[in-house]
Amino acid sequence: MKNLLSGSSPLAPLTRRDFLKAAGAAAILPAGAWGAGRPSASNRITLGVIGWGMMGPANTKAFLAEDDCQIVAACDLHTGHLQAAVDTINTRYGNQDCKAYRDYRELLARDDIDAIMIAVPDHWHALVATEAARRKKDIYGEKPLARTVHEQQAIVKAVQQNGIIWQAGSWQRSLPSFHKAAEIVRNGLIGNVVRVEVGLPGGHHDFPGTVPALLAKLSSLPDKITSPAQIVPGTPAWDLAVTEPPPELDFDRWLGPSKSEPYIEARVYQNWRWNYNTGGGQLLDWIGHHGDIAHWGLGFDQTGPSEIEGHGEFPAANAVWNTATTYMVECKYRKEVTHYPVDVGITIAGGHPAIMMGTKWIGTDGWVWVDRGGFDASNPAWIKGDSLPDDLRKVKLYESVEHRRNFLDSVKSRKPTIAPVETAHHSTLPGHLGLISMLVGRKLQWDVAQEKILNDSAASELLSRPYRAPWQLS
Ligand SMILES: NC(=O)c1ccc[n+]([C@@H]2O[C@H](COP(=O)([O-])OP(=O)(O)OC[C@H]3O[C@@H](n4cnc5c(N)ncnc54)[C@H](O)[C@@H]3O)[C@@H](O)[C@H]2O)c1
Repeated sequence: MKNLLSGSSPLAPLTRRDFLKAAGAAAILPAGAWGAGRPSASNRITLGVIGWGMMGPANTKAFLAEDDCQIVAACDLHTGHLQAAVDTINTRYGNQDCKAYRDYRELLARDDIDAIMIAVPDHWHALVATEAARRKKDIYGEKPLARTVHEQQAIVKAVQQNGIIWQAGSWQRSLPSFHKAAEIVRNGLIGNVVRVEVGLPGGHHDFPGTVPALLAKLSSLPDKITSPAQIVPGTPAWDLAVTEPPPELDFDRWLGPSKSEPYIEARVYQNWRWNYNTGGGQLLDWIGHHGDIAHWGLGFDQTGPSEIEGHGEFPAANAVWNTATTYMVECKYRKEVTHYPVDVGITIAGGHPAIMMGTKWIGTDGWVWVDRGGFDASNPAWIKGDSLPDDLRKVKLYESVEHRRNFLDSVKSRKPTIAPVETAHHSTLPGHLGLISMLVGRKLQWDVAQEKILNDSAASELLSRPYRAPWQLS
């Protein structure tokens, strides 16, 4: 790393990170040009952002609002997205300093970058994150941690070995309503939790709104097509759906380690979620939110289910959209493993109206439910206000006012974030294992400590996926 404070120490050179670590949150030095109180340029955390689709800009906006960091580099494979990233960042700072990269490895090779934000599709998480960890960058990484269990394990190992800070994009932890709900559970106010319902969306959602144009193109065909989930190879609809990639996108690079597939617009931007080659459907898209909160309330950030049984309905495996449209996963957390007083059953469901969207813990003495737009509980006294009355808060959970701010604070203090990598890994595991159970059609036994599926070689094989050359996860 570049010696940003060279000359300040006659001994070993002091890096920016060493300096921030030593100085902690008090590293606020005289104002730069931007405003009173802003740390001088040499003492801001330097950031690179990778991925400028839906979530990249949202995260970046939050970092741009923080005085003590400076975004100095942006990366995307799509030239239009990359230009939008650089323009947004340079406009905010009123300069031309943000550099553009199409290859994340070049951005990560820069010694003067302290931390990065990763918001690329799930099939790219592991390669980018492990390389960044190897380069000792602190990482704000989007959920789910990765596309497979094996990739997640590789990320956890790389983060631990390199001693870097990780913040998962499970930002619900930084909202008061989720914090309050988790504290109600953790303080035993609903007694021993026996069951948790985690309600997620079902079906598919056309995020970028590209599907109507595709369906219009197919409207003259004799077979009525109403969704990309009905389009399979060898049909006229497929032949019409496949096109050349746009010139501004390096599509082969976009596919990266995933198996080679023809370009179909309806499964690239944002809609890559609905194709198991690149994403994990609604289950994996949401498990890092409501599943994460379920674990938080129970204190299960370092543990997992011993039995997992999933059932789902799927389109054809080779359809343009092939991820489950409805699913139900039953997870059993054994008390001998979790050290919770009783066994806990967590039901994770999508497309089942009986299970409300959000997280609901049901205990021997009451219940509490939370979602982005709602909060309810068996005791009306808990519903009002942003937090519980202090006398009920014997156990106080980690507090973060803003998720990106919390990451920057941890980069300085070197203390864990509110959603560190081990937490992100465990929050996502029930989703991965539920999907594997659905795909093999049977209940799985999971060894929580060894992180292995027991006595099922076919299911175990699905913990990882082959990588397309030349990509390799080391
Ligand atoms: N925390 C949240 O609430 C939340 C919300 C939405 C998305 N996400 C997560 O954010 C990530 C991105 O999702 P999205 O909806 O923004 O996807 P997106 O398709 O809209 O954007 C991804 C961007 O990454 C770029 N990209 C792809 N591969 C790349 C590579 N190898 N190097 C550089 N750029 C690359 C694409 O060109 C695209 O611009 C996913 O992991 C997703 O699960 C999180």
